Amino acid sequence: MVAMGVPAAENREATEAWSGPLFETFVRYRDLVIDGLGAHGEAAMAAHPPPPGGRVVDLGCGFGDTTQHLASLVGEGGEAIGVDVSGPFIDAAREEAERAGATNVRFVVGDAQGMEFDQAFDYAFSRMGIMFAANPVQLLRNVRMALSPGGQLCAVVWRRKLDNPWVHRAEQVVDEYLEHPEETDEPTCGPGPFSMANADTLSEQLKIAGFEEITFQRCDLPLKIGRDLDHAVEFNMALGPAGEVLRLWEDRIDEIRPKIAADLRQALAEFEGPDGVFAPASTWIVGARAPGGADTVQ
Ligand SMILES: C[S@@+](CC[C@H](N)C(=O)[O-])C[C@H]1O[C@@H](n2cnc3c(N)ncnc32)[C@H](O)[C@@H]1O
Repeated sequence: MVAMGVPAAENREATEAWSGPLFETFVRYRDLVIDGLGAHGEAAMAAHPPPPGGRVVDLGCGFGDTTQHLASLVGEGGEAIGVDVSGPFIDAAREEAERAGATNVRFVVGDAQGMEFDQAFDYAFSRMGIMFAANPVQLLRNVRMALSPGGQLCAVVWRRKLDNPWVHRAEQVVDEYLEHPEETDEPTCGPGPFSMANADTLSEQLKIAGFEEITFQRCDLPLKIGRDLDHAVEFNMALGPAGEVLRLWEDRIDEIRPKIAADLRQALAEFEGPDGVFAPASTWIVGARAPGGADTVQ
């Protein structure tokens, strides 16, 4: 166990990234990220709803919009706790919840991989918040141990890049020009957003972590990646695997940035429509249960 608010040693670099450059990028593109992922999160909550009156935890909660949504679903008799390894995200989530007048929400800085939770939960949720830990099995086991017997895990994770063509194309464009830099002082975000895309691997990790009743439901819903093509190019150059490589090269690649932007424009052009740029996006809605519930056969 690691002390509350202190990340596991192997997650320190990712925590630095999520508390600094990635937090700043997410603030800049907050609306695209939250609106874009919103439908995937709602589909997950519909597939595995939190229990009314339940105690729920939202792992890697970011700005806490999902935590607020979970709080409204469990109702006044329940409580939703948002956990994030990044202090700046938790400060932002607290401010947003206060502004919204949410009463049954709480936010805590913590590393889901190793933190000691101060209570047991009936339900654990995560929208894109569990794939950045260095030790996924340890994170999943820690979450399973925080659940009451029979407690439900519901997580949204990216499926493979090939079915998320905006990411795949951006990466292909950047790969034409750059490799991952060998030397960088910039912190990276750990295993990265696609580290749980393989259902066989994740299913095995969940089993090793002690989960039962593991299910995967494919969710294909378009994602808005820009209000127009320029905005979409800017977004792709700031976030995701392509954005990460560009960030790590910093200002050493200023002369090739316009070429990358022009190629990206072409690669994303077919997704532009009258209401913005909408690209196909594909996630897994993952369900799993902690053993010991009423329905578990012993
Ligand atoms: C891609 S963002 C998703 C944020 C939010 N769930 C959403 O859907 O908008 C990933 C979040 O996970 C958090 N995170 C990364 N590693 C974590 C860990 N080990 N424990 C808790 N939170 C973590 C990051 O700080 C970040 O806020």
